[in-house]
Amino acid sequence: MLELRNIGVTYAEGESGSVEALKDVSLLCERSSFVVIVGANGSGKSTLLSVIAGAEKPDTGSVILAGSDVTALPEHRRAPLIGHVFQNPTKGTVGDMTVRDNLALAASRGQGFGLRWALSRALQEEMRARLADLGIGLEDRLDQPVSALSGGQRQALTMLMATWKRPRLLLLDEHTAALDPRSADLVMNLTGRIVSDRGLTVLMVTHSMQQAVQFGQRLLMLHHGRIVYDIRDGEKRRMRPSELVARFDELRRMDRLDESAASLLQDQYI
Ligand SMILES: Nc1ncnc2c1ncn2[C@@H]1O[C@H](COP(=O)(O)OP(=O)(O)O)[C@@H](O)[C@H]1O
Ligand SMILES: [Mg+2]
Repeated sequence: MLELRNIGVTYAEGESGSVEALKDVSLLCERSSFVVIVGANGSGKSTLLSVIAGAEKPDTGSVILAGSDVTALPEHRRAPLIGHVFQNPTKGTVGDMTVRDNLALAASRGQGFGLRWALSRALQEEMRARLADLGIGLEDRLDQPVSALSGGQRQALTMLMATWKRPRLLLLDEHTAALDPRSADLVMNLTGRIVSDRGLTVLMVTHSMQQAVQFGQRLLMLHHGRIVYDIRDGEKRRMRPSELVARFDELRRMDRLDESAASLLQDQYI
């Protein structure tokens, strides 16, 4: 379904020099797989999703989606195939439009027929039914502006919009990280349900060790722009949050050893 071949991304010189955000990353994800991605801040997780979505062009390598090489396709041309949900609940919805019009936008995406076509009677009924399915009463708030919703409700709506047309691929970038714990649980449970009901292929970045062990069949850990762990099936099912934390600690310990070794080497040359 998704294949990354030797992806490299280097961000241009900033104040602290250039940053190699992804280093020769290759990955094959099967159709309907749910892949969770963890890694320290700055390890390249968001860059990886951006390269897949087309928001970031890789310096090397290629992105193959559903059998086609999409590396040269700009983000808006990939958008009909890919749902991309971010941490900030205001990013996936239009605040001063109603719930209904937001959903109409999602329903007309990639078709160019606009809102008038989208607001057919059948679609209105589908909206009501699918909102009711979320189980948080949004079906009674179709005429309210999205800005009147709580962060959790808004992110639940974003999830529904991102999956309205069954994307080939759903990219979730810490989509519950800005929510209070209860809303985060709600949105995560909805996510699990939508993904399994619709058989979606998902890459989900999370900071939550609990989510990382509880969801998905595969777990990747990124470290300094490389995939350092790829844990699947039985091993993934047996994984506990404490074991994942231990792996993080081990990587940090190795980083510190690297730093000490580097400074030792430097000292020798001074
Ligand atoms: N637009 C950008 N310009 C320059 N550097 C960037 C940019 N985006 C990310 N980076 C750098 O690339 C590295 C990876 O960032 P990112 O993919 O956002 O990591 P993560 O999502 O794992 O926290 C970090 O060192 C970050 O500072
Ligand atoms: Mg990130």
